Amino acid sequence: MKNGPTMKTPPLPHIQTDRLTLKLLEPCNAEFMVNFRVENKQHLMPWEPLRSAEFYTLGFWEMQLRHAVQEFREQHCVCLVIMDTDETEVYGVCNFTFIQKGTFLACQLGYALAEKHQEQGIMAEALKAGIDYMFNDIGLHRIMANYMPHNDRSARVLERLGFVVEGKAKDYLRINGRWEDHILTSLVNPAD
Ligand SMILES: CC(C)(COP(=O)(O)OP(=O)(O)OC[C@H]1O[C@@H](n2cnc3c(N)ncnc32)[C@H](O)[C@@H]1OP(=O)(O)O)[C@@H](O)C(=O)NCCC(=O)NCCS
Repeated sequence: MKNGPTMKTPPLPHIQTDRLTLKLLEPCNAEFMVNFRVENKQHLMPWEPLRSAEFYTLGFWEMQLRHAVQEFREQHCVCLVIMDTDETEVYGVCNFTFIQKGTFLACQLGYALAEKHQEQGIMAEALKAGIDYMFNDIGLHRIMANYMPHNDRSARVLERLGFVVEGKAKDYLRINGRWEDHILTSLVNPAD
């Protein structure tokens, strides 16, 4: 490439798959996110940071979703909400964060799915579409994702998508109030 790798600035994403829509949820629809978070509080607790009581409120998500649009425009994060195709329910989230430009052109990926929608291939379908978007529309070269060694479901979804294990990091992330070891994986843009 003549001037070295660059990132593109596309419009707000609205991605369709066979069963899903992935998009930045409008702040006026924050109640969908509150429903998802409240219903899945116990299910997601072992896999995520400790959450404050505020995390489960409408005010928090209205602010968070406004912030997500700003973060997208500044090309820091792409926080996609996974919904049904009628956009009446939040199934989960896939967040592409810590986007770095320059010679790295990489980001971190985190994801979570509602308990009732597991084991139907939903996350693999969502991540495939999200990853294609990050590679083709945003222009990233590498996506990194990490999971705790005993998170077999997370390991399987990443393996299915072609992520390669690159190592293990001790006390890597503070999950549910404890520093936890993580398996480090990444996927490189096949077109690069
Ligand atoms: C990890 C997590 C995202 C996996 O979600 P998921 O949707 O069940 O994962 P997948 O999309 O890979 O679904 C695959 C399963 O659905 C089954 N499946 C059923 N119908 C399917 C279909 N039409 N297409 C594909 N797979 C299908 C597959 O057989 C597969 O089962 P297997 O893994 O036992 O082989 C989810 O369990 C989760 O959110 N967990 C809690 C939070 C978490 O761990 N986050 C990640 C932290 S690193």
